[in-house]
Amino acid sequence: MPNSDRVVLALGGAGTVGSGVVKALLDRGSEEGAEEAKRALLGATAGHVTDVVSSLGFSWWQRGPPHTQSLEELERVLGSLVLSTFVSWKTFFPLVRDNPGSTYTFITGGAGDKLLMPGTGFLTVGAAGALGLCQALREEYPDTPCKINQVKINTGVSSPGRSAPGYLDQMDLGSAVASLVERGADPNPAPAHSVYTLNGPDDLRGVLTADGV
Ligand SMILES: NC(=O)c1ccc[n+]([C@@H]2O[C@H](COP(=O)([O-])OP(=O)(O)OC[C@H]3O[C@@H](n4cnc5c(N)ncnc54)[C@H](OP(=O)(O)O)[C@@H]3O)[C@@H](O)[C@H]2O)c1
Repeated sequence: MPNSDRVVLALGGAGTVGSGVVKALLDRGSEEGAEEAKRALLGATAGHVTDVVSSLGFSWWQRGPPHTQSLEELERVLGSLVLSTFVSWKTFFPLVRDNPGSTYTFITGGAGDKLLMPGTGFLTVGAAGALGLCQALREEYPDTPCKINQVKINTGVSSPGRSAPGYLDQMDLGSAVASLVERGADPNPAPAHSVYTLNGPDDLRGVLTADGV
């Protein structure tokens, strides 16, 4: 599929990660094209979407250990990190599922593997749920023409005013994700779904060169 034909739906596009993705995609396309796609999405021609990037949840959560938390707070965390990801996947995957060359890309975090620091327990629960959802989708739909990508970020993402050594630059990450979308899926043979693990800025090269692990 020529990249000029791609229409990318960026879920969570207002967020730290998502806004870098949107900016990188706009650099490759145009604001007029984005407006046109928005009108199509709001109208009856949503089938025009060719790619989805899902970057839902939140940047950080550290409200205390589990015994200090309420069920409502756990529901809120799961709602943001897992349920929104599931509901939007269920809504939008049918638009791209059967299209060779299409992609559905999930952004997830490394907090699902371990407690990042005291007081972040619910972040681990929610992030682990998102990891599990992505694994389930890859394995339940191994042969879909649409390629499922997961970008697993095991470090922080710098937004203007929030940076630290080892963090990924928001714009560099956005460009890497945009290049994943541009590469699309090789329809022949059926695409292998991929996980790209980013432990730091050096790993962005692996995304740019398609060395998924
Ligand atoms: N930022 C980092 O340092 C970092 C590091 C590793 C992994 N990640 C992962 O990257 C993903 C995005 O994080 P982020 O830093 O970009 O978070 P963010 O800045 O808080 O943005 C999250 C986006 O998700 C949307 N969202 C949240 N809950 C939602 C819901 N229930 N329904 C619909 N939309 C919802 C938000 O919409 P609104 O704008 O309407 O609130 C926002 O656009 C997360 O999965 C996170 O684990 C981030």
